[in-house]
Amino acid sequence: MSIVFLTDSFMPMEEAKISPMDRGFLFGDGIYEVIPSYDGVLVGFGPHIDRMKQGLELIGINLDWDRAKWREICEALIEKNGNGNLGIYLHVSRGADSKRFHAYPTDVPATIYAYAFEIPAANVPEKSKAKGYKVATTEDLRWQRCNIKSTSLLGNVMHFQHGHAQGYNETILFNEKNEMTEGSACNAYIVKNGVVITPPLDNQILPGITRLMLLDILAKHTDIKVEERIVTMDEVFAADEVWLTSSSKEIAPVIQMDGKPVGNGEVGDTWLKAQTAYTANKANY
Ligand code: PDD
Repeated sequence: MSIVFLTDSFMPMEEAKISPMDRGFLFGDGIYEVIPSYDGVLVGFGPHIDRMKQGLELIGINLDWDRAKWREICEALIEKNGNGNLGIYLHVSRGADSKRFHAYPTDVPATIYAYAFEIPAANVPEKSKAKGYKVATTEDLRWQRCNIKSTSLLGNVMHFQHGHAQGYNETILFNEKNEMTEGSACNAYIVKNGVVITPPLDNQILPGITRLMLLDILAKHTDIKVEERIVTMDEVFAADEVWLTSSSKEIAPVIQMDGKPVGNGEVGDTWLKAQTAYTANKANY
Protein backbone atom coordinates (compact mmCIF):
# COMPACT_ATOMS: atom_id res chain seq x y z
CA MET A 1 0.00 0.00 0.00
CA SER A 2 1.31 3.40 -0.98
CA ILE A 3 1.20 6.21 1.59
CA VAL A 4 0.93 9.65 0.03
CA PHE A 5 0.83 13.24 1.25
CA LEU A 6 -2.07 15.51 0.30
CA THR A 7 -2.23 19.14 1.41
CA ASP A 8 -1.54 18.63 5.12
CA SER A 9 -1.53 14.93 5.97
CA PHE A 10 -0.39 11.44 5.04
CA MET A 11 -2.92 8.82 3.94
CA PRO A 12 -3.26 5.66 1.83
CA MET A 13 -3.29 6.61 -1.86
CA GLU A 14 -6.85 5.31 -2.22
CA GLU A 15 -8.05 7.91 0.26
CA ALA A 16 -6.38 10.89 -1.43
CA LYS A 17 -9.05 12.90 -3.22
CA ILE A 18 -8.89 16.28 -4.95
CA SER A 19 -11.67 18.47 -6.31
CA PRO A 20 -12.57 18.17 -10.01
CA MET A 21 -12.33 21.98 -9.96
CA ASP A 22 -8.62 21.82 -9.11
CA ARG A 23 -6.73 23.92 -11.63
CA GLY A 24 -4.10 21.21 -11.87
CA PHE A 25 -6.83 18.96 -13.28
CA LEU A 26 -8.62 21.58 -15.40
CA PHE A 27 -5.63 23.52 -16.77
CA GLY A 28 -2.47 21.58 -15.88
CA ASP A 29 -1.83 24.70 -13.79
CA GLY A 30 0.99 23.60 -11.50
CA ILE A 31 4.63 22.77 -10.96
CA TYR A 32 6.17 19.39 -10.14
CA GLU A 33 9.44 17.76 -9.17
CA VAL A 34 10.85 14.24 -9.16
CA ILE A 35 13.68 13.66 -6.67
CA PRO A 36 15.50 10.32 -6.66
CA SER A 37 16.24 8.53 -3.41
CA TYR A 38 18.40 5.43 -3.09
CA ASP A 39 18.31 3.47 0.18
CA GLY A 40 16.91 6.46 1.99
CA VAL A 41 19.37 9.01 0.60
CA LEU A 42 17.86 11.84 -1.46
CA VAL A 43 20.00 12.93 -4.44
CA GLY A 44 20.08 16.60 -5.44
CA PHE A 45 17.45 17.55 -2.86
CA GLY A 46 18.49 21.23 -2.47
CA PRO A 47 18.68 22.05 -6.20
CA HIS A 48 15.39 20.22 -6.84
CA ILE A 49 13.58 22.30 -4.21
CA ASP A 50 15.21 25.50 -5.49
CA ARG A 51 14.03 24.73 -9.03
CA MET A 52 10.51 24.09 -7.77
CA LYS A 53 10.47 27.38 -5.86
CA GLN A 54 11.67 29.22 -8.98
CA GLY A 55 8.94 27.52 -11.05
CA LEU A 56 6.26 28.48 -8.52
CA GLU A 57 7.49 32.07 -8.55
CA LEU A 58 7.52 32.17 -12.35
CA ILE A 59 3.86 31.17 -12.52
CA GLY A 60 2.78 33.24 -9.51
CA ILE A 61 1.87 30.51 -7.01
CA ASN A 62 2.66 31.71 -3.51
CA LEU A 63 3.81 28.95 -1.22
CA ASP A 64 6.16 29.77 1.61
CA TRP A 65 7.48 26.25 2.22
CA ASP A 66 11.22 26.11 2.80
CA ARG A 67 13.68 23.30 2.18
CA ALA A 68 13.21 21.95 5.72
CA LYS A 69 9.45 21.57 5.30
CA TRP A 70 9.85 19.74 1.99
CA ARG A 71 12.60 17.56 3.44
CA GLU A 72 10.31 16.50 6.26
CA ILE A 73 7.63 15.40 3.73
CA CYS A 74 10.16 13.61 1.50
CA GLU A 75 11.80 11.76 4.38
CA ALA A 76 8.45 10.72 5.82
CA LEU A 77 7.38 9.35 2.41
CA ILE A 78 10.62 7.39 2.14
CA GLU A 79 10.17 5.96 5.61
CA LYS A 80 6.49 5.11 5.06
CA ASN A 81 7.10 3.53 1.66
CA GLY A 82 10.06 1.32 2.43
CA ASN A 83 13.41 3.01 1.77
CA GLY A 84 14.13 1.36 -1.61
CA ASN A 85 14.92 3.03 -4.94
CA LEU A 86 12.27 5.71 -4.97
CA GLY A 87 11.31 8.71 -7.00
CA ILE A 88 9.67 11.31 -4.78
CA TYR A 89 7.05 13.13 -6.81
CA LEU A 90 6.10 16.62 -5.56
CA HIS A 91 3.22 18.50 -7.14
CA VAL A 92 1.86 21.96 -6.35
CA SER A 93 -1.20 23.13 -8.26
CA ARG A 94 -2.87 26.54 -8.03
CA GLY A 95 -5.74 24.90 -6.13
CA ALA A 96 -9.48 24.48 -6.59
CA ASP A 97 -11.59 27.51 -7.49
CA SER A 98 -15.41 27.55 -7.54
CA LYS A 99 -15.49 28.31 -11.28
CA ARG A 100 -13.40 27.56 -14.35
CA PHE A 101 -11.88 30.94 -15.18
CA HIS A 102 -8.45 31.35 -16.74
CA ALA A 103 -7.16 34.22 -14.59
CA TYR A 104 -5.23 33.35 -11.43
CA PRO A 105 -7.69 33.29 -8.53
CA THR A 106 -6.88 35.09 -5.28
CA ASP A 107 -7.39 33.44 -1.89
CA VAL A 108 -7.38 29.89 -3.21
CA PRO A 109 -4.90 27.67 -1.35
CA ALA A 110 -2.48 25.63 -3.45
CA THR A 111 -3.03 21.88 -3.63
CA ILE A 112 0.06 19.97 -2.56
CA TYR A 113 0.44 16.32 -3.44
CA ALA A 114 3.46 14.08 -2.93
CA TYR A 115 4.01 10.38 -3.34
CA ALA A 116 6.82 7.87 -3.76
CA PHE A 117 7.18 5.48 -6.70
CA GLU A 118 9.72 2.83 -7.53
CA ILE A 119 12.55 3.79 -9.88
CA PRO A 120 15.30 1.57 -11.35
CA ALA A 121 18.31 0.90 -9.12
CA ALA A 122 21.10 3.45 -9.45
CA ASN A 123 23.33 2.88 -12.48
CA VAL A 124 26.39 0.73 -11.97
CA PRO A 125 29.44 2.19 -13.73
CA GLU A 126 30.16 -0.91 -15.79
CA LYS A 127 29.52 -1.18 -19.51
CA SER A 128 28.13 -4.71 -19.26
CA LYS A 129 25.52 -3.61 -16.70
CA ALA A 130 24.38 -0.46 -18.52
CA LYS A 131 20.99 -0.29 -20.19
CA GLY A 132 21.58 0.88 -23.76
CA TYR A 133 18.72 3.14 -24.82
CA LYS A 134 17.12 2.98 -28.25
CA VAL A 135 15.44 6.22 -29.19
CA ALA A 136 13.36 7.85 -31.90
CA THR A 137 13.82 11.44 -33.04
CA THR A 138 11.11 13.93 -33.92
CA GLU A 139 10.50 17.66 -34.18
CA ASP A 140 9.97 19.41 -30.85
CA LEU A 141 6.42 20.76 -31.00
CA ARG A 142 6.05 21.77 -27.34
CA TRP A 143 5.47 25.28 -26.00
CA GLN A 144 8.17 27.94 -25.68
CA ARG A 145 8.57 27.77 -21.91
CA CYS A 146 10.10 24.35 -21.51
CA ASN A 147 12.35 25.78 -18.78
CA ILE A 148 9.30 25.69 -16.46
CA LYS A 149 8.68 22.26 -14.93
CA SER A 150 4.97 22.55 -15.57
CA THR A 151 2.48 19.77 -14.91
CA SER A 152 1.04 20.56 -18.39
CA LEU A 153 2.92 17.69 -19.99
CA LEU A 154 0.75 16.77 -22.98
CA GLY A 155 3.44 17.86 -25.45
CA ASN A 156 6.01 15.71 -23.65
CA VAL A 157 3.56 12.83 -23.36
CA MET A 158 2.81 12.89 -27.10
CA HIS A 159 6.51 13.01 -27.96
CA PHE A 160 7.31 10.14 -25.59
CA GLN A 161 4.45 8.13 -27.08
CA HIS A 162 5.86 8.73 -30.59
CA GLY A 163 8.94 6.71 -29.63
CA HIS A 164 7.21 4.27 -27.30
CA ALA A 165 4.68 3.23 -29.97
CA GLN A 166 7.60 2.17 -32.19
CA GLY A 167 9.26 0.19 -29.41
CA TYR A 168 11.81 2.86 -28.45
CA ASN A 169 12.77 3.89 -24.90
CA GLU A 170 12.72 7.66 -25.49
CA THR A 171 12.36 10.36 -28.13
CA ILE A 172 15.05 12.97 -28.82
CA LEU A 173 13.65 16.29 -30.01
CA PHE A 174 14.94 18.92 -32.41
CA ASN A 175 13.70 22.42 -33.21
CA GLU A 176 12.79 23.98 -36.58
CA LYS A 177 16.47 24.82 -37.13
CA ASN A 178 17.37 21.12 -36.85
CA GLU A 179 19.06 21.71 -33.48
CA MET A 180 18.69 19.15 -30.70
CA THR A 181 16.70 20.42 -27.73
CA GLU A 182 16.26 17.55 -25.24
CA GLY A 183 14.42 14.25 -24.76
CA SER A 184 10.69 14.07 -24.03
CA ALA A 185 11.52 13.49 -20.32
CA CYS A 186 15.28 14.04 -20.08
CA ASN A 187 18.21 16.21 -21.15
CA ALA A 188 20.40 15.16 -24.08
CA TYR A 189 24.14 15.21 -24.87
CA ILE A 190 26.53 14.08 -27.54
CA VAL A 191 30.17 13.05 -27.18
CA LYS A 192 32.55 13.78 -30.04
CA ASN A 193 36.28 13.06 -29.82
CA GLY A 194 36.00 12.80 -26.03
CA VAL A 195 34.22 16.18 -25.62
CA VAL A 196 30.75 16.22 -24.05
CA ILE A 197 28.46 18.69 -25.83
CA THR A 198 24.99 19.69 -24.66
CA PRO A 199 22.60 22.50 -25.59
CA PRO A 200 22.78 25.63 -23.41
CA LEU A 201 20.00 26.41 -20.93
CA ASP A 202 17.24 28.47 -22.48
CA ASN A 203 13.47 28.35 -22.86
CA GLN A 204 13.69 25.26 -25.09
CA ILE A 205 14.84 22.88 -22.38
CA LEU A 206 14.32 22.03 -18.74
CA PRO A 207 17.27 22.95 -16.51
CA GLY A 208 17.71 19.35 -15.35
CA ILE A 209 19.15 18.75 -11.91
CA THR A 210 20.99 15.67 -13.15
CA ARG A 211 22.46 17.91 -15.88
CA LEU A 212 23.49 20.50 -13.28
CA MET A 213 25.15 17.85 -11.11
CA LEU A 214 26.78 16.03 -14.02
CA LEU A 215 28.37 19.16 -15.50
CA ASP A 216 29.64 20.17 -12.06
CA ILE A 217 31.02 16.69 -11.36
CA LEU A 218 32.72 16.45 -14.77
CA ALA A 219 34.39 19.83 -14.20
CA LYS A 220 35.50 19.08 -10.64
CA HIS A 221 36.36 15.39 -10.78
CA THR A 222 37.35 14.49 -14.36
CA ASP A 223 39.44 15.79 -17.23
CA ILE A 224 36.48 15.48 -19.61
CA LYS A 225 35.88 18.70 -21.52
CA VAL A 226 32.30 20.01 -21.71
CA GLU A 227 30.81 22.47 -24.20
CA GLU A 228 27.38 24.02 -23.70
CA ARG A 229 26.41 25.07 -27.21
CA ILE A 230 23.95 24.46 -30.03
CA VAL A 231 24.10 20.86 -31.30
CA THR A 232 22.75 20.19 -34.77
CA MET A 233 21.03 16.91 -35.59
CA ASP A 234 23.77 16.26 -38.17
CA GLU A 235 26.21 16.30 -35.25
CA VAL A 236 23.91 14.06 -33.24
CA PHE A 237 23.82 11.44 -35.98
CA ALA A 238 27.62 11.66 -36.40
CA ALA A 239 28.34 11.51 -32.64
CA ASP A 240 30.58 8.91 -31.01
CA GLU A 241 28.17 8.69 -28.06
CA VAL A 242 24.77 10.10 -27.18
CA TRP A 243 23.51 10.31 -23.59
CA LEU A 244 20.31 11.20 -21.80
CA THR A 245 20.04 12.31 -18.19
CA SER A 246 17.19 12.50 -15.73
CA SER A 247 16.56 11.89 -12.07
CA SER A 248 15.39 8.33 -12.64
CA LYS A 249 17.96 7.38 -15.34
CA GLU A 250 21.13 9.13 -14.14
CA ILE A 251 23.34 9.03 -17.28
CA ALA A 252 21.71 6.79 -19.88
CA PRO A 253 23.81 5.77 -22.89
CA VAL A 254 21.93 5.76 -26.20
CA ILE A 255 23.05 2.97 -28.53
CA GLN A 256 20.53 3.37 -31.34
CA MET A 257 18.65 6.29 -32.91
CA ASP A 258 15.88 5.80 -35.47
CA GLY A 259 17.10 2.23 -35.89
CA LYS A 260 20.70 3.22 -36.66
CA PRO A 261 23.64 2.55 -34.32
CA VAL A 262 25.15 5.44 -32.37
CA GLY A 263 28.95 5.32 -32.90
CA ASN A 264 29.89 1.65 -32.87
CA GLY A 265 26.48 0.76 -31.41
CA GLU A 266 27.89 0.05 -27.95
CA VAL A 267 28.10 1.83 -24.63
CA GLY A 268 31.03 4.26 -24.85
CA ASP A 269 34.22 4.89 -22.87
CA THR A 270 33.30 8.49 -22.04
CA TRP A 271 29.96 7.29 -20.59
CA LEU A 272 31.90 4.91 -18.34
CA LYS A 273 34.17 7.69 -17.07
CA ALA A 274 31.25 10.07 -16.54
CA GLN A 275 28.99 7.55 -14.80
CA THR A 276 31.90 6.47 -12.59
CA ALA A 277 32.45 10.07 -11.47
CA TYR A 278 28.70 10.67 -11.11
CA THR A 279 28.23 7.56 -8.96
CA ALA A 280 31.13 8.57 -6.73
CA ASN A 281 29.98 12.15 -6.19
CA LYS A 282 26.20 12.38 -6.55
CA ALA A 283 25.61 12.12 -2.79
CA ASN A 284 27.25 15.53 -2.33
CA TYR A 285 24.31 17.41 -3.85
N1 PDD B 1 11.74 14.29 -16.16
N2 PDD B 1 13.81 17.44 -19.51
C1 PDD B 1 12.53 17.06 -19.34
C2 PDD B 1 11.51 17.46 -20.36
C3 PDD B 1 12.15 16.29 -18.21
O1 PDD B 1 10.89 15.93 -18.03
C4 PDD B 1 13.16 15.92 -17.28
C5 PDD B 1 12.85 15.11 -16.07
C6 PDD B 1 14.48 16.33 -17.51
C7 PDD B 1 15.60 16.00 -16.55
O2 PDD B 1 15.49 16.71 -15.35
P1 PDD B 1 16.07 16.14 -13.99
O3 PDD B 1 17.47 15.78 -14.24
O4 PDD B 1 15.92 17.26 -13.05
O5 PDD B 1 15.25 14.92 -13.61
C8 PDD B 1 14.77 17.11 -18.62
C9 PDD B 1 11.17 13.77 -14.94
C10 PDD B 1 12.05 12.86 -14.19
C11 PDD B 1 9.78 13.27 -15.16
O6 PDD B 1 9.01 14.02 -15.76
O7 PDD B 1 9.42 12.19 -14.71
